[in-house]
Amino acid sequence: MLNRTAGLRDVMPHVISIRDFSRDEIDRILDRAAELEPIAHGGSSDLLAGRILATLFHEPSTRTRLSFDAAMKRLGGSVIDFGSIEGSAVSKGENLADTIAVVSGYADAIVLRHPKEGAARMASEFSRVPIINAGDGAGQHPTQTLLDLYTIRKESTLDRVKIAIVGDLKYGRTVHSLVYALSLYNAEIHLVSPDQLKVPESLTNDLSESGTRITETTDLDEVIDYVDVMYLTRIQKERFPDPNEYRTVAGSYRITEETLKRVKDDLIIMHPLPRVDEIDYGVDSSRHAVYFKQSFYGVPVRMAILSMVMGDGTAATGGW
Ligand code: CP
Repeated sequence: MLNRTAGLRDVMPHVISIRDFSRDEIDRILDRAAELEPIAHGGSSDLLAGRILATLFHEPSTRTRLSFDAAMKRLGGSVIDFGSIEGSAVSKGENLADTIAVVSGYADAIVLRHPKEGAARMASEFSRVPIINAGDGAGQHPTQTLLDLYTIRKESTLDRVKIAIVGDLKYGRTVHSLVYALSLYNAEIHLVSPDQLKVPESLTNDLSESGTRITETTDLDEVIDYVDVMYLTRIQKERFPDPNEYRTVAGSYRITEETLKRVKDDLIIMHPLPRVDEIDYGVDSSRHAVYFKQSFYGVPVRMAILSMVMGDGTAATGGW
């Protein structure tokens, strides 16, 4: 019998930014995901029977949308989906605050992806049920970070991990969440990007002040034979204000079978996906490639999050 009382709502009703979580709270979520993972492998449970999750995606998604859907259904709950913007009242001019105020009367939690940084935080101010940030522009993607941490913990070693994070570190919201979370685990972080796509300086300043070991380079060769984890990201064409600038950095890094001759035996290669051309298809069958497992781990991790924000046996609506 799964424990119904291990709630997160007592400490964190909404899931907006990984920076709102302590290491202890993150460990609790990862432990919960490990407990629930057998159900993600084709099982079912009634843990969230009678609960409704609303999914509002104002930007495209495959993994986040479907893994939340799968997680909710594996736990016996149901999902209502907002559908396309064109098919909703947003096309008649309804703003996000009103949409959230309305939808929070229909569901026990809301998953929101939105192109504007800060949208999830703003939505939490108008919602009577937990808001789960599924990505806000170039801001944060905390549930991706939790599944990334879960993947590293399962497939490598999380504490003191040596990691290279490669690609679009400026616009990549998965990176902004992940780098901060890794600092809680004493990671050694090597940031590899074109000069134009470095992480925001405020983030590196925060991390340096907290004592995190962090380097920045444009040259992946400097760290490729040293790290335990290589975390690749897509250069996010859609976030470039100037398409010409995108063309100057597109295809900056590409991992092939040839590249793998220079890596540690136990290196793992991760990617939040979708990929464009960062990882050659020939790499998929190598022992280093864990990115499809990583996307699967989105299910148990999101089961953990859903069970912790609304699985504690009390009514989810009505504020706290
Ligand atoms: N990793 C990720 O957020 O993928 P989707 O955009 O497909 O949800």
